Amino acid sequence: MCGIVGAVSCDRNILPILITGLKNLEYRGYDSAGIAYLKNNKINIFKTSGKVSKLENKLNKSDYSNIGIAHTRWATHGKANNVNAHPHRVNHVTIVHNGIIENYEEIKEMLREENYSFKSSTDTEVACALLNYYLEKFNDIDKTIKAFISKVIGSYAILIFIDNDLDNLYVIKKESPLVIGVSNNINIISSDIRAILKYTNKYYILDDFEYAKVSSNEVIIKNSNGDVLNKELHTINIKDNDNSKGHYKHFMLKEIMEQKDTIYKTIESYIKDGITSLKALPDLTKYKDITIVGCGTAYHACLVAKYLFEEVTNMRCNVYLASEFRYQNNFLSKDTLTIFISQSGETADTIAALKLVKSKNYPTLGIVNVENSTMSYLVDTCLYTKAGCEIAVASTKAYTAQVALLSVLVLSHGLRNKSISKEKVLKVIDEFNNIEKLITPLLNNRKIWKSIAKNIYKEEDIFYIGRGLDYYLSMEGALKLKEISYIHSEAYAAGELKHGTISLIKKNTPVISSATNPNLNLKTISNLKEVLARGAIIYLLCDDNYKDDNFTIINIPKASLFIKPILVIIPYQLIAYYTANLKGTDIDKPKNLAKSVTVE
Ligand code: G6P
Repeated sequence: MCGIVGAVSCDRNILPILITGLKNLEYRGYDSAGIAYLKNNKINIFKTSGKVSKLENKLNKSDYSNIGIAHTRWATHGKANNVNAHPHRVNHVTIVHNGIIENYEEIKEMLREENYSFKSSTDTEVACALLNYYLEKFNDIDKTIKAFISKVIGSYAILIFIDNDLDNLYVIKKESPLVIGVSNNINIISSDIRAILKYTNKYYILDDFEYAKVSSNEVIIKNSNGDVLNKELHTINIKDNDNSKGHYKHFMLKEIMEQKDTIYKTIESYIKDGITSLKALPDLTKYKDITIVGCGTAYHACLVAKYLFEEVTNMRCNVYLASEFRYQNNFLSKDTLTIFISQSGETADTIAALKLVKSKNYPTLGIVNVENSTMSYLVDTCLYTKAGCEIAVASTKAYTAQVALLSVLVLSHGLRNKSISKEKVLKVIDEFNNIEKLITPLLNNRKIWKSIAKNIYKEEDIFYIGRGLDYYLSMEGALKLKEISYIHSEAYAAGELKHGTISLIKKNTPVISSATNPNLNLKTISNLKEVLARGAIIYLLCDDNYKDDNFTIINIPKASLFIKPILVIIPYQLIAYYTANLKGTDIDKPKNLAKSVTVE
């Protein structure tokens, strides 16, 4: 969601660097793009709705510049069009912005009284005008930024270009991600270090309310009082930065297939020496209960963890959507461990929830995929999933990596509080050691997923139902399908159908289900019969030998509770993928969605 790149060099053309940077940030999701750069002492601005490649085509190929800023915008205030696209320019100030200025209406009114007028519907143009207003008032950048920080409510990473100071870029940061990459004769600012890894792996991270002056050979970072800070220069060593699709048509399919490796890779260090290595995981016995927080797919991983913690270890576990967490009584205490789950480590709501828990000095644990992300620095302890770079907006391999890591956390806790025997733990470790063998037939059985996709892709409504763990998996299955195929799909607890949803079932409505709990399967099957009687077409994933000619039954391997989520979700991912493929949607970048949701 929104990407920022800026670059200053004394001897290099920064235009290809800005465009490459924007392309690397495309995966975050956006709907327009723009660039501002200095040429012959004049700032040139180009903007476009749509793709970065369209912006690239607008640029004059022979242009050369040493300093510039660029942006991909995911519309929040105002449509995705040229006028609303960034950069915005007001008098002497040009900016790009990631985040939301919450009190922009009030500031706009104030500035109108000072004779400012506005062309766009954006909060960013207001921020730009405010910076210009303070700059004219104080004629001093430090005072300007200090006044800006105290006036503005909201989140922002802003890159500023000032007309009479064109050797430098200024950067202000609050809540939205921002790094300053440092290299010989070039400094590059970006929302994500991975976007600029080609040029440098050394970078500074700005904390909230800090700002920086970035020139070609210097980065000066200050706090909001204007004091110069001596910040740590970080180094990132990413070996696996393969961002190509290989022979796959989409990143999503590639990432689904990579689960053969990523699940095992995530937990390898915790199981390689059997029970001994599980001890490397944090000791949870000192806590009375657990709270887990996440958004989207990560939230669905939280639900699986809740089921496992409560079912296996008898540890009470509350799960919250990060966007709701802050606005309710969470009954936290020092005896509750709050776990935050996130692929990107940058999701605004999850970070806000984390900051809330930290502000009370309560213990936190992160399960994060992107190393060196904001969340990884904020949590007391961070466990990394090793899913590698996930590009497709719809999360697949990150989810199974989260589930696998949470599973080993549950196993280690179960051993410590003696709710699970060593023998059982060893059996599950053995299953994880063989995970590739278990999932490969599911990944390769494309014929069956394609044929289900063919049956459902023209439908308008699809329902996923299940009980217990299968209900939580239904939620993820329905999310995958709606995210990329744009088919309305909903998940329901099978027992809830009769309380409303069954009225939506009509002739040929697809109902997809999994039944993997011997204690609940017959109940789920009764519910499936109820929808069958009303004309539904049933697809059932099942790990026993249940037979019914009225259903399409797909057998999945039998496995322990810890492995079942993976065995159900892979088929759901593939059904969603092939359905969207038949519909011809933009699978890796579905409309309106963003990979990294950096605003509330
Ligand atoms: C967005 C993405 C989802 C992701 C969710 C949470 O909605 O499109 O794929 O599950 O954000 O993101 P996180 O990075 O915190 O896991």
